[in-house]
Amino acid sequence: MKIINVVGARPNFMKIAPIMREMDRGAGLSPMLLHTGQHYDEAMSKVFFEDLGLPQPDIYLGVGSGSHAEQTARVMIEFEQVVNREQPDLIVVVGDVNSTIACTLVAAKLGVSVAHVEAGLRSFDRRMPEEINRIVTDALADLLFTSEKGAEDNLTREGIAREKIHFVGNVMIDSLLHSLKRAEQSSILELYQITPGQYAVLTLHRPSNVDEQDALISILDALDKIQKWIPIVFPMHPRTKARIESFELSSRVAKMEHLFVTPPLGYLDFIRLFSKSRFVLTDSGGLQEETTALGIPCITLRENTERPITVTEGTNMLVGSDREALLSETRAILEGEGKSGRIPELWDGKAAERIVSVIREER
Ligand code: UD1
Repeated sequence: MKIINVVGARPNFMKIAPIMREMDRGAGLSPMLLHTGQHYDEAMSKVFFEDLGLPQPDIYLGVGSGSHAEQTARVMIEFEQVVNREQPDLIVVVGDVNSTIACTLVAAKLGVSVAHVEAGLRSFDRRMPEEINRIVTDALADLLFTSEKGAEDNLTREGIAREKIHFVGNVMIDSLLHSLKRAEQSSILELYQITPGQYAVLTLHRPSNVDEQDALISILDALDKIQKWIPIVFPMHPRTKARIESFELSSRVAKMEHLFVTPPLGYLDFIRLFSKSRFVLTDSGGLQEETTALGIPCITLRENTERPITVTEGTNMLVGSDREALLSETRAILEGEGKSGRIPELWDGKAAERIVSVIREER
């Protein structure tokens, strides 16, 4: 059974790594790895291959950045040729990035089966490009692997047959648990001279937070207060860096004495950094789950989440654009009253094992 596993952007790499590892175990499957090149910087892509022990991609499309239409279209044009040439039996896509929807559309139209890992997540906010990617990908996929219980209800409400849906748990947590030990060797805390439990970590890259000048300024105002209470380490996404520069906010950021801006970090460095932090401030999807898995309080700078289990069972709190809520949740954590949580069902490091065993059965 010939399988093309697709990655494109940073949050894809840690989801595909455990699946590739599992496919390599035992006979019968011949997996390939395809990288669309949506993310291409060393810090956004190459370092993850090294940290995760991912093999070099068999196929690299090199599509790069562009508008949504440009990027999606470039992946589609290139991927169609690959599917015609390679004639795979199945393609595996993960998450909700533009590469996910582009490859799904191509495979579905060529009659090739698609497995979607992390299916059924919904923020119910179609202003998020990822929400459109999720809905379309799930509508076309033949095998839908879900990471939390509620996802199945979202899918059946959209008319997707239950037989296609498999609740398998969270592959991102497979990677996290697999890498925790190795991450201890990272010297990131020493590099930034920070002490476990005595700093916060910030990540910020959603268009709704960084592409609008007013929204970004309002977040920076709140951060200015917070960094006086506790140092903040801020690995900065290229999109955010570009916006801060174009809105001429660089000096505002530089003035915050206890806000330490770093380049985007590799996987192991980042695990080390957030796993030893007092709490995390983020608008990322994956980090809401990773903090829940390790019991680290997480304040999410978004109005909604497609990963509600991190709020109902985990350590995640949504504060949206409410700066007062952000400050009061931060104060609560610093006063020892941060939210505690429990680990969601099947976030046990064995999701990839379950996925590959379903794929083998479907053969
Ligand atoms: C993408 C995903 C988002 C995910 C995020 C994680 C979509 C719609 N969005 O957003 O879901 O949370 O990745 O990082 O697929 N850039 C570089 N170097 C790179 C890649 C990007 O400098 O290696 C810059 C470019 O200026 C580019 C911008 O970042 O225009 C945005 O990149 P893009 O891939 O369009 O979306 P992300 O914001 O990274």
